[in-house]
Amino acid sequence: MSVRIVVSGTDTGVGKTVFSAALAGALDGYYWKPVQSGLDEETDSQTVLRLSGLAAERVWPEAYRLRTPVSPHLAAELDGVTIDHRALEAPHTDRPLVIEGAGGLLVPLTRDVTYLDLMARWRLPVVLCARTALGTINHSLLSIEALRARDVPILGVSFIGEENVETERIIIDMGRVKRLGRLNYLAPLTSAMLRQAFTDGFDIGDFVEERAR
Ligand SMILES: Nc1ncnc2c1ncn2[C@@H]1O[C@H](COP(=O)(O)OP(=O)(O)OP(=O)(O)O)[C@@H](O)[C@H]1O
Ligand SMILES: [Mg+2]
Repeated sequence: MSVRIVVSGTDTGVGKTVFSAALAGALDGYYWKPVQSGLDEETDSQTVLRLSGLAAERVWPEAYRLRTPVSPHLAAELDGVTIDHRALEAPHTDRPLVIEGAGGLLVPLTRDVTYLDLMARWRLPVVLCARTALGTINHSLLSIEALRARDVPILGVSFIGEENVETERIIIDMGRVKRLGRLNYLAPLTSAMLRQAFTDGFDIGDFVEERAR
């Protein structure tokens, strides 16, 4: 069975999609966004296709494509759709799979169920994407506590942004988690720049070893 990894984050807009594109590309794997809210702008799957260098068939189709860029529970209601969370199963693929959640851990999928509930059911290792900017310590430690409280395995934290050694250190030490690496803000953000930044900032072995299964 191939490695399956969930990429979550401390918040919306932290860089999960960019990181997922880099990771899925480095793993030569698949990418899956179970629920996409908002179809007017480039979707996360389209961004990953553009940035990862992967072929289109490596982007697994979303289970739900909802029109409005709001929380999935509301986006579904606005579209008159009910998200059947029990049917949201992580696919088994012949190559590694990177799954991107929406927003942060406690984002509601329905009025009763959050993404964290789904992760607790899947029990797949989670990469927590965290900013290096001010405010990240609280968000990161809260997210780590929430994952632990539900026995979700934490692969480690991937930092995104400019170097901030002390901030990273306190999150890693107090959270007792592995630092997977840091992705700088890239300008321009191109597929080639992203591939290089991932190679420079991360050890692919951290994502493919036995404990990542
Ligand atoms: N390493 C980076 N270098 C340059 N720009 C970045 C980087 N990471 C993220 N961005 C930019 O920041 C914005 C948010 O990033 P991204 O879409 O990856 O966040 P997200 O956590 O996936 O958000 P969502 O919760 O909406 O899925 C995008 O415009 C993206 O291009
Ligand atoms: Mg995203």
